[in-house]
Amino acid sequence: EKGNHRHFMEKEIHEQPIVVAQTLGAYLDPLAETVGLPPCDFDLAAITRIQIVACGTALLAGHVASYWLESLARIPVAIENASEFRYREPVCGPDALLLVISQSGETADTLAALRHARAAGQKVAAVVNVPSSTMAREADLLLPTHAGPEIGVASTKAFTCQLAVLAAFAVALARLRGTIDAEAEAAHVRMLTEAPAAMNAALALEAPIQALAQPLSRAQDILYIGRGPDFPMALEGALKLKEISYIHAEGYAAGELKHGPIALVDEHMPVIVIAPSGPRFEKTISNMAEVMARGGQVVLISDAAGLAAQAAGTMAAIEVPQVPSFIQPLVMAVPVQLLAYHVALAKGTDVDQPRNLAKSVTVE
Ligand code: F6R
Repeated sequence: EKGNHRHFMEKEIHEQPIVVAQTLGAYLDPLAETVGLPPCDFDLAAITRIQIVACGTALLAGHVASYWLESLARIPVAIENASEFRYREPVCGPDALLLVISQSGETADTLAALRHARAAGQKVAAVVNVPSSTMAREADLLLPTHAGPEIGVASTKAFTCQLAVLAAFAVALARLRGTIDAEAEAAHVRMLTEAPAAMNAALALEAPIQALAQPLSRAQDILYIGRGPDFPMALEGALKLKEISYIHAEGYAAGELKHGPIALVDEHMPVIVIAPSGPRFEKTISNMAEVMARGGQVVLISDAAGLAAQAAGTMAAIEVPQVPSFIQPLVMAVPVQLLAYHVALAKGTDVDQPRNLAKSVTVE
């Protein structure tokens, strides 16, 4: 059932505009321009803090969401790997919400965190793709993604559907808490409604990204940098690349580069710079200039305004559609996934079944 696609991963990347629209359709009322959440038996408005726990790509969706939850709902967010959560003594309580995120709903470490919090009397919300999964059954509030079955081991469409649900959740929580008004809610609904078309436009980047795949596939190591929500996108780019192409890759907050990792940069080290135009652009571009001054080969992923300002001297520039910063991560996910996919193809690795990895990690 790969259709005319070579791999499930490619098919699932291309399905994203449709499944993200499907997922948003379960939360947004486009006529009333409001966000609705599934019913739950506790008072969400009484929540004063959120702990996000997940693994891998799902954790990175949570990392992106932390920016939305803080800026829109003004709610403090802590994030932890599910595998590390158990080694903390989390300060649970009825005013705190544990938010778990999982495609499979079966990841052992994430499930253990859910059970730990519930045993301590804390409410748990779960963003889950498999409706019949254990996490979906055990959560107090189920926030489903509607990505459909994800077959490729590397998570793609589940990730963007998680982002869609988390963005809608942040807007809904903000309304409940009174930190945004109805007008702002409507504006955010309109922005989210634009996301699938912008993601579709981003799929057209396949050709320029393919052209980069050969030179990048010869690299030993690749760095990804970004600021704000582009930082978790840098982490996601690096995770996806190492997972399917076996090239060593790391994501860094752009401003952290000069605190150590810039020592690695030379003419053999490509650096992927994720820098859409906007308030964070100038600072990330100055980090990019530091990389170029040391001979680093830069691939700049930005929008038309960003590239018009700063594409000179880069190895390549990838132009993503210009969208409001709120929905930028959903759109940015597409080139990041395509880059990993095409570099892996150039290397000839088994994209859908990368070595050593399982789709669902049910041991701790
Ligand atoms: C990366 C990837 C993994 C999963 C992680 C969590 O592409 O697929 O990092 O995201 O194993 O799995 P779920 O979401 O099923 O809990």
